[in-house]
Amino acid sequence: MILISNEVVHAPAFPEVCGVKNLFIAEELSADDEAREHLLDAAFGAARFDKTAERLREGRFPGQGLALAAKDADDLIGTLRLWHILAGAVPALLLGPLAVAKAYRSRGLGRRLMGEALFRAKAAGHRAVLLLGDAPYYEPFGFTRRNTLGLSLPGPVDEARFLGLELEDEALKEARGLVTAAGPFNLSAHRRVQELCRAA
Ligand SMILES: CC(C)(COP(=O)(O)OP(=O)(O)OC[C@H]1O[C@@H](n2cnc3c(N)ncnc32)[C@H](O)[C@@H]1OP(=O)(O)O)[C@@H](O)C(=O)NCCC(=O)NCCS
Repeated sequence: MILISNEVVHAPAFPEVCGVKNLFIAEELSADDEAREHLLDAAFGAARFDKTAERLREGRFPGQGLALAAKDADDLIGTLRLWHILAGAVPALLLGPLAVAKAYRSRGLGRRLMGEALFRAKAAGHRAVLLLGDAPYYEPFGFTRRNTLGLSLPGPVDEARFLGLELEDEALKEARGLVTAAGPFNLSAHRRVQELCRAA
């Protein structure tokens, strides 16, 4: 059993217990921003801003209800967000970044965040999810390179890490062409990016 957004919910998949007594998975709050950025810096380093996936996220809001924070009491210990994109002409979501604090890894928390995010995405009517990540970690959720073969990204990638999941049958069948950002603009994040560019 796990607390999600103040409601007790039995997670639909990957039900293993993390062994974290006060585990709480909820939509992140703006008050979580700083802790989330620290967690992402620790997990990926500064090079995370150079990644091609970042070109699809920068200056945008994540999908509504699809920015998740895992907490142990008040401490942020995991983060996962999903972003609106167009896969060619097909509306979809981009998953990531996914990170769990070092001290909490290998207890099933990453899988719980994944299961929860995909459950919420499907419940909200989204039909497909793409990501850039390690296939051995994401294939058990149904992600496969087969679903992205007709697609390209706005920057260099290791194509073996470009994976897709159909939440509805054949949702990515007609997905061809460039993947582009489609989320609503986050003007304050946009300004931050411009400041960083000016400072560089
Ligand atoms: C990837 C990550 C989110 C997994 O979180 P987690 O809570 O430890 O995940 P889980 O407990 O659900 O799963 C752990 C298992 O996944 C495996 N795993 C972790 N990262 C992996 C990867 N990149 N590729 C394949 N397997 C991976 C672990 O070896 C572990 O295996 P085990 O259960 O046999 O010991 C966490 O390791 C992390 O934050 N890493 C740094 C950020 C990162 O690389 N994120 C993107 C991954 S592509």
